[in-house]
Amino acid sequence: MNLSGIAAVITGGASGLGAATARHIAALGAKVALVDINAESCAQVAKEVDGLALSCDVTDAASTEKALSDAKQKHGTARLVVNCAGIAPAAKVVGKNGPHDLELFRKVIEVNLIGSFNVLRLAASEMIALDSLADGERGVVINTASIAGYEGQIGQAAYSSSKGGVIGLTLPAARELARSGIRIVAIAPGLIETPMFNNLAPAAVEKLVASTIFPKRLGKPEEYARLVQHIAENVLINGTTIRMDGSIRMN
Ligand SMILES: NC(=O)c1ccc[n+]([C@@H]2O[C@H](COP(=O)([O-])OP(=O)(O)OC[C@H]3O[C@@H](n4cnc5c(N)ncnc54)[C@H](O)[C@@H]3O)[C@@H](O)[C@H]2O)c1
Repeated sequence: MNLSGIAAVITGGASGLGAATARHIAALGAKVALVDINAESCAQVAKEVDGLALSCDVTDAASTEKALSDAKQKHGTARLVVNCAGIAPAAKVVGKNGPHDLELFRKVIEVNLIGSFNVLRLAASEMIALDSLADGERGVVINTASIAGYEGQIGQAAYSSSKGGVIGLTLPAARELARSGIRIVAIAPGLIETPMFNNLAPAAVEKLVASTIFPKRLGKPEEYARLVQHIAENVLINGTTIRMDGSIRMN
């Protein structure tokens, strides 16, 4: 799918990977709607990319339905949806202060997994009605997993569970929506330099970087954005999770 002129929705578009994707695909001519719980930063990025800022909590069905409906009214039904909204709090199963807070575990699953599914189901139900393009394609939904979905570290029980869920969602959703020409793909980034890293001490970041194979550096949000572009343009990529991680294997 050529991105020029198409409508796109990016969740988590106010920051990090979502904001970089918004900038990249807007430069390629896509009409971008940003969905984020952080209304202020969302409006800033939207202004930069001449896009639409939609304040929304992706875990909430009604709020997300309204955001996608506003995006459709302004730009038409989105053919590209990128789910970047996410949170990554760290907590041990049994920490210094006792067992993992169950509400925190629930919240991480709610935002990272249920939020992605919520957007996927609503977006796909609109995409189905679009005219098909070359190869019968109507659209693509790209979810953001994580290498922690495969190799989570201590403290990532909730986060890794949520990202494992995103990986597991990819194939059944792609199989089901194939008949409507809708692709479902996930990206599993390694360590990408975004505000998510702000809470980590420099020594911890250094240690993580040392465990990458090549190149020995953090990834750049623009590298994620370029992969989104490639997935959108390459109709053969479907039903899979692509690692983008400099071959890091976290231990
Ligand atoms: N940065 C990395 O190294 C890395 C690695 C692997 C996976 N990821 C994943 O990539 C995605 C983007 O991460 P990032 O690094 O850009 O983080 P980020 O913190 O910079 O951006 C996340 C955005 O999601 C928004 N958000 C959070 N909860 C929301 C909700 N309920 N509804 C709507 N918006 C909400 C935040 O306001 C923020 O703008 C996340 O799913 C993250 O788990 C990041």
